[in-house]
Amino acid sequence: MRRWDFTQNLFSRTMRKQLKTRTMTDLLTALEWRYATKSFNSSVRLTDLQLDVLKKAVQLSVSSFGLQPYKVFIIDSQEVKSAIMEAAYGQKQIGEASHVFVFAHQRQYQSKEVEDLIVKLAENQGRKVEELQPYQQSIDSWMGAMSDEKLETWMSSQVHIAMNNLLLAAATLGIDSCPMGGFDIEKVDDILGLKSEGLKSCLIVPVGVRNDKDIYANYPKTRKSISELFEVR
Ligand SMILES: Cc1cc2nc3c(=O)[nH]c(=O)nc-3n(C[C@H](O)[C@H](O)[C@H](O)COP(=O)(O)O)c2cc1C
Repeated sequence: MRRWDFTQNLFSRTMRKQLKTRTMTDLLTALEWRYATKSFNSSVRLTDLQLDVLKKAVQLSVSSFGLQPYKVFIIDSQEVKSAIMEAAYGQKQIGEASHVFVFAHQRQYQSKEVEDLIVKLAENQGRKVEELQPYQQSIDSWMGAMSDEKLETWMSSQVHIAMNNLLLAAATLGIDSCPMGGFDIEKVDDILGLKSEGLKSCLIVPVGVRNDKDIYANYPKTRKSISELFEVR
């Protein structure tokens, strides 16, 4: 798959043309090209522009009520990457990657977040905050009724959606990545000081360029068949 030229401006003519000509086939090609990268070429660094596009893709993720109850840390420091790699049972893709995205969700439901969302919504839709108060109340009561366990599942689901946007964006840009849940949450929280910020790590995604010698790149995709997965009723 051709890599995009990210040395140009994000909205250069070439890129706009590339964006225009991308088709569904390109999307499937990208999805087949991507794989959970087990080894990166540690000498290749993603550009700021590439990182900006990945950030934008995460920002544009859908979330329940639009709350986005998470924060994403982008680890550039080799020292921190190495510490996280250790907390992930030595999985070396973390230490070798150009950058490592750490997705952390909120530990508790915060009604202040809903208040802020309502203010933004009102502004964007040219409406009065008071008009949106019934909506605010319904979110508050929906969220308030959740048990701690349900809330954690809900928070984690929102993070998984955002992570998938990152994986998809990376694949379409020819950037390699590895979705990762295999790590010691408490250790990663300690390394990044997340607990005191009311956050809990949930997923890690190293990104960069694959190591040519990573044998996993050549394995065919192992997936359920279309007939196993789908049923028309
Ligand atoms: C939530 C989640 C957690 C995962 N955790 C890890 C992990 O800790 N280490 C790893 O190498 N791969 C991890 N994977 C990658 C999967 O094993 C991989 O996506 C799956 O086997 C399909 O292979 P493919 O991504 O190469 O197509 C994880 C994937 C997901 C979605």
